[in-house]
Amino acid sequence: MTMVDTRTDIPKTPTLPDAQTVTEVTHWTDRLFSFRVTRPASLRFRSGEFVMIGLMGDPDPKTGKQKPLLRAYSIASPSWDEELEFYSIKVQDGPLTSRLQHIRPGDQIILRPKPVGTLVHDALLPGRRLWFFATGTGIAPFASLIRDPQTYEDYDKIILTHTCREVKDLEYGRQLVETVRSDEMLRELIGDGLDKLVYYPTTTREESPRMGRITDLLRDGTVFRDLGIEDFGPETDRAMVCGSMGLNLDIKEILESHGLREGANSDPKEYVVEKAFVG
Ligand code: A2P
Repeated sequence: MTMVDTRTDIPKTPTLPDAQTVTEVTHWTDRLFSFRVTRPASLRFRSGEFVMIGLMGDPDPKTGKQKPLLRAYSIASPSWDEELEFYSIKVQDGPLTSRLQHIRPGDQIILRPKPVGTLVHDALLPGRRLWFFATGTGIAPFASLIRDPQTYEDYDKIILTHTCREVKDLEYGRQLVETVRSDEMLRELIGDGLDKLVYYPTTTREESPRMGRITDLLRDGTVFRDLGIEDFGPETDRAMVCGSMGLNLDIKEILESHGLREGANSDPKEYVVEKAFVG
């Protein structure tokens, strides 16, 4: 005789809380990877914001209980995208990324659908030029913002600078800019000359066409000479900064010395800063 269990309080397949499914994983170097996951239908966010994502931790040796292991990750995809994209470092002994780097399509991750962050258009006063200063995985929020039409509607020029140790570390950003420039919808906003979106990659530990920390290249005027543009001014320039603590502090100092002030969601000004999150 077949027994039909009609109880409804028995969980079916145990699933993670706030689970999303991995759809694509790309390994860029032995230290960098990006991945895409399904997007919760109800998730709305502003390009440039971050969410907490992670995996279930190992069971507690005493109680056997598992707790989610979560870290802040900038959403690298634009707000119109059907999926969510993230760009991450792989830290071999990092509690989360030592495991996260092994995810594959079909796997599940935890995603808390509460986006927050300061690298958003709302936190800046209107201006003409918008600078994105990134080091390493700090490019992630800008990967979202340079795919957002509002970026091109609000500014005459967008300058994305990305400083990494080696040329291979720039590849994610290089391909991203290429994608944006060849995207039909965005191309119309950027214009055929494509000079509205300027990409300025630099390396510090490997020979490349442009070498040095962006901070040094700003201080000695190289960036402005290279791009044929005027120095920073509080009327024209707006900036978003996302990188190591050192980069954030150094760029802040440079911007402040030109009269730009730090803004926030509730108090928009000329620039905003967020630490690049390291797993
Ligand atoms: P450098 O090689 O001179 O330290 P990391 O991999 O350590 O996160 O660094 C990523 C990139 O950010 C590297 O190219 C590094 O240059 C650069 N960097 C680190 N600190 C600063 C800073 N204070 N200003 C500008 N660039 C920085």
